[in-house]
Amino acid sequence: MANVIVIGAQWGDEGKGKITDLLSRSADVVVRSQGGVNAGHTIVVQGKTFKLHLIPSGILYPNTECIIGSGTVIDPKVLLQELEQFQSLEVSTENLFISQTAHVTMPYHRLLDMASETRRGKHKLGTTGRGIGPTYADKSERTGIRIIDLMNPNGLQEKLEWTINYKNVILEKLYNLSPLNPEAVIEEYLEYAEQLRPYVVDSSLKIAEAIQKRKNILFEGAQGTLLDLDHGTYPYVTSSNPIAGGACVGAGVGPTVIDRVIGVAKAYTTRVGEGPFPTELHGKVGKLLGNRGAEFGTTTGRRRRCGWFDGVIGRYAVRINGLDCLAITKLDVLDELEEIKVCIAYELNGKTCNHLPSNAKEFAQCKPIYETLPGWQQSTTNCRVLDDLPQTALSYLKFLAELMETPIAIISLGASRDQTIIVEDPIHGPKRALLNVNGEPVSSTFD
Ligand code: IMP
Repeated sequence: MANVIVIGAQWGDEGKGKITDLLSRSADVVVRSQGGVNAGHTIVVQGKTFKLHLIPSGILYPNTECIIGSGTVIDPKVLLQELEQFQSLEVSTENLFISQTAHVTMPYHRLLDMASETRRGKHKLGTTGRGIGPTYADKSERTGIRIIDLMNPNGLQEKLEWTINYKNVILEKLYNLSPLNPEAVIEEYLEYAEQLRPYVVDSSLKIAEAIQKRKNILFEGAQGTLLDLDHGTYPYVTSSNPIAGGACVGAGVGPTVIDRVIGVAKAYTTRVGEGPFPTELHGKVGKLLGNRGAEFGTTTGRRRRCGWFDGVIGRYAVRINGLDCLAITKLDVLDELEEIKVCIAYELNGKTCNHLPSNAKEFAQCKPIYETLPGWQQSTTNCRVLDDLPQTALSYLKFLAELMETPIAIISLGASRDQTIIVEDPIHGPKRALLNVNGEPVSSTFD
């Protein structure tokens, strides 16, 4: 059995929620390693819609333990609302565990996130406004509040008084905002602390015990490769490490325990927030993708920018994450199109560029070089095996597999669990046909 990391191979919103939900079926433990309530998964099970920001999707399986790891930042108010959502639907949350070393998003983090975005004006990053950057900034600055601090009321009082007074100076003097009332914040967070206390654990120890017992662990990424603080399209990135390496850091495990890394990519590309997006479509096709794909953010409701599949980014994600295979989602969104374009390289200053430029200005100047493929113009939503797919849809997938030199293991054709083609169960399924590096169906590479 395998320990598997699932990450987003684009700019987030690739449909990781559905894929991790599917794989959680075979997992004993699901770990969320980074990010905060900027993430949003929507999962549809038997007609019921669950909106998750922090709790791993594995919570829907009664025997799966879910851990919110050390590398995450936790907004207790939102987490408690999520817990209520499950409890009101009679989904047990007793298998949820929260890392004592995760950092806490406080009210001043949200205020500072929004105030600094306003101050940036036309240079804004387009953050989710959920206080993520300021929470991670405090972590790096070593002034953060951790879950373990919440569990210690006396120490918390002292620490928060100092911190809120310090943040109030910034809120008032720099941003001209009203100061926070330290007593009110302390009272509110002490109340949250008591509600969260039963869930708090030493998460890396808990994961280590699961590894020792040879349990199946799924590491669930949030956001996507191109939003990575170190390896994404800086500065238009989030403040954590959504790449595969970040999963190890955030969970507190060594890279040697990881057996597989699965990258999730949409059959096209989307992006929310600011920043260059070479294959973005502003016309009719972009609108069609947005409408058919219901491309609105789960967290902010913002319309996502849509464009053609970008193979340069795809190859980059394969390299940075060491991807073993891909899950391609939302193939059905392309069903109506007469022809489909795929970006195979960029043109930059009159030259062909096969790699993602690190410089944001250069990236903004990249023009996509497209290969045009025929569409299939029929519904794929009821396809359940590769043979059900129209030949042109299969050719499209083969093209992507070849372009990224990576097999496709899962194809998603709708929001429901059953609207999926499992080409090969990357965890422990029987051997089935897999699209190999040449895009040809072959037997499993997971032997
Ligand atoms: P932040 O994470 O709120 O600081 O936002 C930084 C950038 O990451 C913005 O462009 C956001 O739109 C983007 N972002 C953050 N979380 C997600 C996500 O879960 N999906 C897609 N984009 C995200």
